[in-house]
Amino acid sequence: MQAQDLSSPSNPKVVILLGPPGSGKGTQAVRISKELGIPHISTGDLFRENISQDTELGKRAKTFMNAGKLVPDEVVLDMLFDRVARPDCAHGYLLDGFPRTLPQAEALEKHLAKNVQLIVLDLEVPDEIIVKRAEGRLTCKSCGNVYNKYFSPPLKEGVCDKCGGELIQRPDDKADVVQERLRVYHSQTAPLVEFYAKKGVLQRVDGTKTPEVVFQALMQKLKKG
Ligand code: AP5
Ligand code: MG
Repeated sequence: MQAQDLSSPSNPKVVILLGPPGSGKGTQAVRISKELGIPHISTGDLFRENISQDTELGKRAKTFMNAGKLVPDEVVLDMLFDRVARPDCAHGYLLDGFPRTLPQAEALEKHLAKNVQLIVLDLEVPDEIIVKRAEGRLTCKSCGNVYNKYFSPPLKEGVCDKCGGELIQRPDDKADVVQERLRVYHSQTAPLVEFYAKKGVLQRVDGTKTPEVVFQALMQKLKKG
């Protein structure tokens, strides 16, 4: 199926990837975005870019992120709405890591044009698998490509297959911070599953399978949605 069949100027899709930290949102978002031809917008990646460039926004977000807490809603909303106002989002976009609170979900709802089709995909992964994935995650410092030392290791230890860059562990993947992120997820983000289920736009996918199987399941839901 062609990308434009799924999201087009007359039928723009906004896809939300929900799921706990480490459930595979980023891994799947890269592939879905390519398949649908719509931009992948990760609020976590936008904050990390700002941190690496030492911007005011980055300085503000860093303390919250490194402690496993959420960045305040008003900061996230300003950044997100600036990003989706760019022309590349006119025909739809894929959100990874947003919304994460009910006020964020309500603000997005007000922001969306009437003709937009909203689809929410929830990646279901239990906490014990999350902890293992976070502990094994490695991210390229240069291009951001993601590996896992247990499940998808690079060809050469510590080196990115794609660009030769250095692979590092995210500061928020330390064991105690992962526990805090999970706690925050269950108290502040998990209620969004029910919020979107009630609106009839939620699709649940088992995120514990291999990345390829999860991708196929997500695409099935998107084609039906
Ligand atoms: P963010 O960057 O969004 O982090 P997160 O939601 O905690 O999610 P992760 O990026 O950790 O995991 P993921 O689901 O993308 O999984 P991945 O594909 O990498 O946010 C970071 C922080 O920014 C937040 O804590 C908060 O402070 C702040 N923030 C961001 N957005 C915010 C918002 N809207 N409001 C407030 N604050 C916000 O996969 C994980 C690992 O598992 C990888 O190693 C991968 O290779 C592996 N893996 C993936 N899929 C599979 C599979 N199927 N099988 C085996 N291994 C797999
Ligand atoms: Mg991610």
